[in-house]
Amino acid sequence: MRKKILVTGGAGFIGSHLCKRLLDLGHEVICLDNYFTGSKENVVELMSNPYFELIRHDVTMPFFIEADEIYNLACPASPIHYQYNPIKTIKTSVMGAINMLGLAKRIRVKILQASTSEVYGDPDVHPQTEDYWGKVNPIGPRACYDEGKRCAEALFMNYYRQNNVRIKIIRIFNTYGPKMHPNDGRVVSNFIVQALKNQNITIYGDGSQTRSFQYVDDLIEGAIRMMDTPDDVTGPVNIGNPDEFTILELAEKVIRLTGSRSKIIFQPLPPDDPKQRQPDITLAKNLLNWEPKVALEDGLQMTIEYFRKLIR
Ligand SMILES: NC(=O)c1ccc[n+]([C@@H]2O[C@H](COP(=O)([O-])OP(=O)(O)OC[C@H]3O[C@@H](n4cnc5c(N)ncnc54)[C@H](O)[C@@H]3O)[C@@H](O)[C@H]2O)c1
Repeated sequence: MRKKILVTGGAGFIGSHLCKRLLDLGHEVICLDNYFTGSKENVVELMSNPYFELIRHDVTMPFFIEADEIYNLACPASPIHYQYNPIKTIKTSVMGAINMLGLAKRIRVKILQASTSEVYGDPDVHPQTEDYWGKVNPIGPRACYDEGKRCAEALFMNYYRQNNVRIKIIRIFNTYGPKMHPNDGRVVSNFIVQALKNQNITIYGDGSQTRSFQYVDDLIEGAIRMMDTPDDVTGPVNIGNPDEFTILELAEKVIRLTGSRSKIIFQPLPPDDPKQRQPDITLAKNLLNWEPKVALEDGLQMTIEYFRKLIR
């Protein structure tokens, strides 16, 4: 059955992949975005599809439309962008959640929240399971994002308990892929852009710190499966790739796959660099029959192709 699906933040990195996938599945998509970090460019290939609609709107303002499902993704996701106007970031998470939950309540539809592994903060538990409450500094520079997302989760759970709104929460871990913002300071895009320009690749620290990276297609699959769960499944559910790589390994892979002449240089670790975060995805495996499928090298290859064209 063709559904009419609202995607907030649909012109961003993840949102644009979600819009495309939902259209490919035969649905009608309404993409809502204020273009703070997203762009029309990300969805330009979808615009010729008569079932795709693009609306410029800020989620901090109320919005009304008829739809069958809502994916709430609107929020800047990289520190450079979310710290640019931290008050606005909190408003986007909190007022955006209130406005979209209000809409879901009024039109009686399911709503999925794109939450984040940042709700675990600087965790004492490794890997993180969904029942871990996290360790977040409520007054630090990252709090606008972390606490905004935590408050949004609280709102989602309360609309579920108090108003019977059908909600779904996924906690997304580090995701990469084509259409990432080329200069938002995230490690995968940074390395690829530096490598393609044959510039030095900067590693903070000695490069032995580990990270896990999920390719965007895997995330989209997990998000759609979550939306399709029965009404009593609310989450939160972790969606991420538990495979770990050192930052040095990542840099070496990028250099090899791009055929770059870049050299790796090391700089001191910034004081607020979060320690390693790694998802426990047992719940997603059991509940959604989901696990990541795309190997890092394959995902990097596809991402490199995207940036190669972009830079050219
Ligand atoms: N990329 C990741 O690794 C990651 C990890 C965890 C969670 N997430 C979450 O996934 C969602 C999408 O992230 P992304 O990586 O695609 O980031 P992104 O910045 O590319 O996308 C966010 C989109 O939201 C839009 N937006 C921002 N504020 C808005 C507002 N007030 N009104 C309307 N639109 C607004 C932006 O213009 C952009 O198109 C975010 O909610 C983010 O917190 C992402």
